[in-house]
Amino acid sequence: MKRKGVGVAKRKRLIRMAWCLLLLVFLGTLYLHSFSEGGSSMSETEEESQNKNKIAFLFIARNRLPLDMIWHAFFEEEKEGKFSILVHSRPGFVLNKVTTRSPFFFNRQVNNSVQVDWGEASMLQAERILLRNALLDPDNDRFVFLSDSCIPLYNFSYTYDYIMSSMRSFVDSFADAKEGRYNPRMNPVIPIQNWRKGSQWAVLIRKHAEAVINDKTVFPQFQKHCRRRSLPEFWRDQPFPVNPAKEHNCIPDEHYVQTLIAQEGLEGEIIRRSLTHSAWDLSATRDKERRGWHPVTYRLNDATPSLIQFIKGIDNIHFETENRREWCASKGRPAPCFLFSRKFTRSAALKLLNSSLIAVR
Ligand SMILES: *[C@@H]1O[C@H](CO)[C@@H](O)[C@H](O)[C@H]1NC(C)=O
Ligand SMILES: *[C@@H]1O[C@H](CO)[C@@H](O)[C@H](O)[C@H]1NC(C)=O
Ligand SMILES: *[C@@H]1O[C@H](CO)[C@@H](O)[C@H](O)[C@H]1NC(C)=O
Repeated sequence: MKRKGVGVAKRKRLIRMAWCLLLLVFLGTLYLHSFSEGGSSMSETEEESQNKNKIAFLFIARNRLPLDMIWHAFFEEEKEGKFSILVHSRPGFVLNKVTTRSPFFFNRQVNNSVQVDWGEASMLQAERILLRNALLDPDNDRFVFLSDSCIPLYNFSYTYDYIMSSMRSFVDSFADAKEGRYNPRMNPVIPIQNWRKGSQWAVLIRKHAEAVINDKTVFPQFQKHCRRRSLPEFWRDQPFPVNPAKEHNCIPDEHYVQTLIAQEGLEGEIIRRSLTHSAWDLSATRDKERRGWHPVTYRLNDATPSLIQFIKGIDNIHFETENRREWCASKGRPAPCFLFSRKFTRSAALKLLNSSLIAVR
């Protein structure tokens, strides 16, 4: 009996201890749980902000990307997937083993592309389609327009830091009231004070990319009143209009994003320069009308160290119409103005790559 009694007391103590232990374990789990929840929610927001870090490279091409191998070398360096690639090519064109040597471009064509016709606003549609597709990926935070003749001048990490360190878009933009490309019929929807011109090759922050795809004011005006484009530079030369003076040859792709940004009051959020270098041929054409409209194409023999040194050495922009010079900067320090350059033929670009003149890798 005695032993039994002791046994009972012991058992009661054991039970009490067990309860205490259980309680401790329970409280401990609660504590750990709340801690780990706090921990995990913290790392989620961290992940979110770390993930929203991709640059979308948006290529506007006719068919293939002749410079795919140069871009391949450029993208190869980046192992963390801090970029995405989209290509707008003619409808039905598919990027695969047959059409590109770079796996980075496999299936990167947008599936809803349009035929880009000169003289129409379809180039703007191509831009908007690219942006709409790129915005579907919430991690894309910068949007870089590139042509099929653009090359990168620097490696991925330099390019990435340069673009990401700016909270503003890079959009070359200036008032263009004098050039006569403004169609008064756009008034009052687009007043002439908001009419801007600049390079098509812009780099947009997400907010501005959204402004472009949500635009229901400026784009329809361009579609209606900006139809003719007599001096195409992007595809190939086309015949002159019968009477150019009578036309509003408004070159939609060099006015649209700029004018939209002015119209929406977003000009305080842009850096007024393009990151893509184009050289304009002012001398080689005798045709006065055409002067200034042809970007130079660099061919095999032009692709020399001095050319690349010259382009990389440009550190200021001269705003001719404003008689003003501005020095380029990145992260508050003097920096080269250009990260990309055009127009290069395939052989010229391959020569640059082979001889390491463009240090993309
Ligand atoms: C286009 O469609 C194909 C096949 O449905 C798909 O694999 C590919 O990812 C799509 N491309 C883009 C850029 O959405
Ligand atoms: C990338 O280029 C920059 C500037 O030219 C250079 O300082 C840096 O070392 C390069 N980085 C890599 C990983 O090659
Ligand atoms: C560059 O190198 C590749 C492979 O080594 C070669 O096929 C190509 O002809 C070269 N191109 C030029 C322009 O040197």
